[in-house]
Amino acid sequence: MSTNETMINRYERAFMNTFGAPQLALTRGEGAYVWDADGKRYLDLLGGIAVNALGHAHPAIVGAVQAQVGTLGHISNFFTSTPQVELGEKIQDVFAQSGYERPVKVFLTNSGTEAVEAALKIVRLHKPGGRILALTHAFHGRTFGALTLTDKPAIKDQFAPLAGTVEFVEPTARDLDAAFAGGNVAAIFMEPIQGEAGVMPLPDGLLSHARALCDAAGALLVIDEIQTGIGRTGQWLASRGVQADVVTLAKGLGGGFPIGACVGAGAAGELFTPGSHGSTFAGNPVASAVALATLMQVEALLTHVHDTGLWLRSQLEAAGYEVRGSGLLLAIGVHDSTRVRDELLTKGFITNAPNPHTIRLAPPLIVSESDLAPFTALMAERSHEFQEA
Ligand SMILES: Cc1ncc(COP(=O)(O)O)c(C=O)c1O
Repeated sequence: MSTNETMINRYERAFMNTFGAPQLALTRGEGAYVWDADGKRYLDLLGGIAVNALGHAHPAIVGAVQAQVGTLGHISNFFTSTPQVELGEKIQDVFAQSGYERPVKVFLTNSGTEAVEAALKIVRLHKPGGRILALTHAFHGRTFGALTLTDKPAIKDQFAPLAGTVEFVEPTARDLDAAFAGGNVAAIFMEPIQGEAGVMPLPDGLLSHARALCDAAGALLVIDEIQTGIGRTGQWLASRGVQADVVTLAKGLGGGFPIGACVGAGAAGELFTPGSHGSTFAGNPVASAVALATLMQVEALLTHVHDTGLWLRSQLEAAGYEVRGSGLLLAIGVHDSTRVRDELLTKGFITNAPNPHTIRLAPPLIVSESDLAPFTALMAERSHEFQEA
């Protein structure tokens, strides 16, 4: 039995079966590559599902963790720390750079789903009893509130009754108009690109349309940038050009360290008062120091992400594939995504299959054309086979 197989067997004996059997046991990573327990190298085209913005073992992250954990590791929210304050100010700067005119305020969390929970509480405070809308095929997380906003019967129906009622609306201007016409809307939650649904970008102009509807209805526009934010699409926020009332962030924010944020603009950033929300670990100095280091690095990578994403897309399109997404969050249309994902894995490429006909790529933002070239060559070589039944 290989070391990989032994580790996977031990994993299965120790852990609840929420994820199925792991595909590999990984032992180390460097840049855009990881190595499995048997020493085989893989190009990580998934980046921990759009998380490892700086790849693996980036010196800025290693340095930030080491320095902070050796100085001040955890303090509770009765106190603050320099990295927490600097992170909050840097997130404000990210929003100012993204065109936000109103001042924003930040609530730090430990994950994406917790950022969505915070957003939901803000929505309740904004308009108690108001209707909450989300888009069909949305994914906003798995805790009870976020699960209520997630439109995936297979993962939610077994947990009914959920935490309130959410109405799911098709992502078209006409359907949004009809939903708002019913009155008393407190908020609409939207992902600029629906990542878990298979990297489905919203129709052009839909976010601005929703902004106008929210303004007219006194409703909050909540944009979930957990998968798309922090440079993933080649700009800080994929929703650039539209100013939300609340934005949720996580994944790439910590470059691999667990941290998220719920960001409120204007009045939405002032609704929480002492006691209305909290979390023991949120804003932990180590997580804050790592996120701050990540943001500083990502700032210098935005153009690289844009250019590399365009190059990758053009290579795949030239090979005959349908490609969706933006920057380094891309989907490739294939006939049988699980088969293609498994085959790519045997060839040393980590990808995933969010739906039966989609391969998702969300590599580290530092990935280069020369890292990607063997992958695009293989995709070109197997184009017919991967796209046909
Ligand atoms: C858009 C979006 N929202 C929320 C979440 C939940 O984040 P987490 O898994 O960190 O709880 C995800 C995770 O995939 C996501 O893609």
